[in-house]
Amino acid sequence: MRHTVPAGMERKETEVYLRLDRAGLPRHIAIIMDGNGRWARRRHMPRVAGHRAGVAAVRSTVQTAARIGIPALTLYAFSEENWKKRPKTEVNFLMRLLCRYLKAEIKTLNENNIRLKYIGRQHELPESVQREMAEASDATSKNTGMLLTLALNYSARSEIVDAFRSLAEAAARNGGLDHMQVDEQAISDHLYTRGLPDPDLVIRTSGEMRLSNFLLWQLAYAEIYVTPTLWPDFRGVQLLEGIEEYQKRDRRYGGLGGDGHAPQPTPHQAHAEVKR
Ligand code: FPP
Repeated sequence: MRHTVPAGMERKETEVYLRLDRAGLPRHIAIIMDGNGRWARRRHMPRVAGHRAGVAAVRSTVQTAARIGIPALTLYAFSEENWKKRPKTEVNFLMRLLCRYLKAEIKTLNENNIRLKYIGRQHELPESVQREMAEASDATSKNTGMLLTLALNYSARSEIVDAFRSLAEAAARNGGLDHMQVDEQAISDHLYTRGLPDPDLVIRTSGEMRLSNFLLWQLAYAEIYVTPTLWPDFRGVQLLEGIEEYQKRDRRYGGLGGDGHAPQPTPHQAHAEVKR
């Protein structure tokens, strides 16, 4: 059955969208945005020009995801390692770019009913950046559509360390470590992503086949889609192509799939929805 196309879609996006199964869209998509430096180098431009061009890719991807009704989108913007291992000038540029993006984008986020949140060790970021981040998330907090999460100063291993600390602290407040309950649900509930369903699909641009310390717990059963497209060239249409590829996969969750036994999500995933 042909379905209606969301307003504002470009022709190429429409073509791919019409091939999608609207009932089988991923509930949560995570993206490792990679290849900004290579994009710039190919044009004999400084690396930062690639980051600047990457903002248009963020804008297009976010808008298309919201238009087609994806409940949650998480973008890996800066890892903890990025801060430590890149030249200060590049890091400073990325900070300024992020602040400019946050300021400029509030209006579009609100127009598209998108709520903005962050994961990562925010307290280690410069105070001025933290202020800008808080302002943008506050300004979008009443929206009820897609949840956009930016991973900033994020490391999956640090997130797991923080989750264990938080579990131990909660136990200490509630009768001591003897009462600490440790199971998958408890750990999920103490991650930065608590309340979010695990990603069904993770996309990585620029052809690299790595997870790079991104959502290591949450991606346990995610389908992985790697595209050679460099991040600054990525647009909504490439997102839709990734979803199309995802819909061809046979998700098994460790079962047999494809043999009459319907694949079952893990227990805590079965009922997970994006919490408000
Ligand atoms: C990876 O490319 C990209 C980053 C480390 C930064 C991501 C930033 C943006 C996409 C723009 C700003 C984002 C927001 C949310 C406003 P790379 O530099 O590692 O590329 P390379 O592997 O080709 O060198």
